Amino acid sequence: MKPLTIALSKGRIFDETLPLLAAAGIHPTENPEKSRKLIIATNHAHIRLVIVRASDVPTYVQYGTADFGIAGKDVLIEHGGDGLYQPLDLKIAQCRMMVAVRKGFDYAAAVQPGCRLRVASKYPNIAAEHFADKGVHVDLIKLYGSMELAPLVGLSDAIVDLVSTGNTLKANDLEAVEHIADISSRLIVNKAALKLKYDVIQPIIDTFAAATQQAA
Ligand code: ATP
Ligand code: PRP
Repeated sequence: MKPLTIALSKGRIFDETLPLLAAAGIHPTENPEKSRKLIIATNHAHIRLVIVRASDVPTYVQYGTADFGIAGKDVLIEHGGDGLYQPLDLKIAQCRMMVAVRKGFDYAAAVQPGCRLRVASKYPNIAAEHFADKGVHVDLIKLYGSMELAPLVGLSDAIVDLVSTGNTLKANDLEAVEHIADISSRLIVNKAALKLKYDVIQPIIDTFAAATQQAA
């Protein structure tokens, strides 16, 4: 059998992908949450998983070091998606990309023409495009996490971040003021790998599609 490498990130994507892998008869031999290993074997000698940062999954697939992987739409928009085939919305890790500010901050006044807004985000491309579409000038501050802190300590006026339950915003006295996009995770496949390993990859795509349909 042709060797197959699947790129996944630890945490929610790995957890929500396990049932899909199981539907395709693929079972990891170790739990990446407990193991420090970055290459995880499966019950199939020719299939392995590589465990990478969520934002690095598209890069591993783009360069063909992984044949396919699973990445959030947020990560894919930031990455640009070059060289990637995105056949399936897996409807996992669902959340929303939002603009949020401190409670009481007059957002409507801050986004008037001619005003400048300081926006902190892990997603500078998404944030830049959103505010460019609105014709609002922004100073973007790139962060790598804990964005909710930025407006609280005066680093920014607003943040562009993911919201699911809203608990993190609430716990930090922030409120969502704009919805940018609905986010879920996509199957991403290296285009060359799909051609060369079609007989191995396409049945897995079909199984994931059926399992996703069933879960809906
Ligand atoms: P990195 O390690 O690259 O910084 P990360 O810490 O954002 O990435 P995760 O928290 O595992 O990685 O998130 C993986 C994906 O899950 C995100 O890209 C997003 O699509 C989705 N996601 C993030 N936060 C939530 C949430 N609160 N609820 C549901 N899905 C989420
Ligand atoms: C994500 C996101 C928010 C939080 C929103 O962070 O960046 O902080 O989830 O979820 P909620 O609306 O359900 O509270 P995550 O938990 O992934 O932590 P991170 O900062 O490590 O990315």
